[in-house]
Amino acid sequence: MSRQCWISRPVAGLAGSLCVPPDKSISHRALLLGAVASGPVTIDGLLEGDDCIATRRALEAMGARIETDQSGRVIFPGDGPGSLSSPAESLDLGNSGTAIRLLCGLLAGLGLEAELTGDDSLLKRPMDRIAEPLLRMGAGIKTQDGKPPIFIGGGRLLVGIDYEMPVASAQVKTAILLAAIWADGTTRVRQPGICRDHTERMLKNLGAPIRFDETGVEIVGPTAISGGHISVPGDFSSAAFFIVAGLLAADDGLVIHDVGVNPTRTGLLDILRLMGARIELGKVRAQGVEPVCDITVYRSDLRGIDIPIEHVATAIDEFPVLFIAAARAEGETRLDGAAELRLKESDRIAVMAACLDTLGIQVATTADGIRIVGGSIGGGCVDSHGDHRVAMAMAVAGAVAEDQVTVQDTANVATSFPGFVDAATGIGFDLSDYKETP
Ligand code: S3P
Repeated sequence: MSRQCWISRPVAGLAGSLCVPPDKSISHRALLLGAVASGPVTIDGLLEGDDCIATRRALEAMGARIETDQSGRVIFPGDGPGSLSSPAESLDLGNSGTAIRLLCGLLAGLGLEAELTGDDSLLKRPMDRIAEPLLRMGAGIKTQDGKPPIFIGGGRLLVGIDYEMPVASAQVKTAILLAAIWADGTTRVRQPGICRDHTERMLKNLGAPIRFDETGVEIVGPTAISGGHISVPGDFSSAAFFIVAGLLAADDGLVIHDVGVNPTRTGLLDILRLMGARIELGKVRAQGVEPVCDITVYRSDLRGIDIPIEHVATAIDEFPVLFIAAARAEGETRLDGAAELRLKESDRIAVMAACLDTLGIQVATTADGIRIVGGSIGGGCVDSHGDHRVAMAMAVAGAVAEDQVTVQDTANVATSFPGFVDAATGIGFDLSDYKETP
């Protein structure tokens, strides 16, 4: 089978402005809640990436009616939860951890029966973190040694639980909340640290009896979700690649328009500012229930730091590209308390360390972190292991390297950032793709 690869060549500088695709996390949630709302739901700016397409197909396999009009607006007629039924075939969620975990919560809450599976990467990812609380709520749920395929047994009525999450995970919190919509009584999820709150904001806006703050969330079930409008902002996690690229190479500034800046997502900005980054946020405005603004970044002399642990969960998806900033910073950057990075689409500590080592950067790993000594990035050939965020981080590395960087296995970039190559070349990247045949 041929693999898609990139060559990213060094450039003199980056400049201009761009928009990034809609937010992946919010798009998944909009689809799931649209499918169970008892009034019409319209969604503007839904991400058309492979992960969200997998969620949409799964809902359609359960009987959801989802239409897209000529403007790209996605419309749910408001058929309500009763319109969904157990899918006849196994649901394939591809590469998407969010899709499989959130759907487990929804299916369990609705009392539907299903088998859920995915690609080789997804089959390695831990599912006990959602199975355990859902079992406590009364769901019938079985994994293969804690991994997919997952079997959900239907026909059960769930009860509310008081659950303390062992790790701050928005996916776990959301899976429980989706089940709790139809569970009897109050469900409380307590979080050990701040993690993204898109589900809570959306549920509140769609009329659910929910309360939330930095310590967690509480919802009273069974309840109904009303119709409404959802507008999806630009994905901060996709903007992150250009935030770092601009800090390393944009003398006159680089502007990223209309980016979601929900404070549960923007830990990267806090970390980069501690490293000496010049980042300017435009006027923050509301796009539905989410804050958005333009972000301007300027080439900055970065210095290595010890990354404060309180920023880890709110920057969790941005570490691959943050490691590129660390690789170009003066001195050493140290990250601890980030064991979750080993459980993402790839083991991002091991895979990023291998890539940086290939490019001549001094790097050492620990069980839950990494040490990176900044310097100049050399050329070389790196393997993204099919991890979209590693691939895009390596494209940024190539732009600021001494020689070209070849990035292998880049097809999964389509899960979160369709059109990345065009967006990057538009602001000055020298990035091209080719097919590698064995
Ligand atoms: C996500 C939550 C995060 C993140 C993932 C998307 C979500 O995972 O890494 O890419 O949409 O809720 P965890 O909840 O496991 O931290």
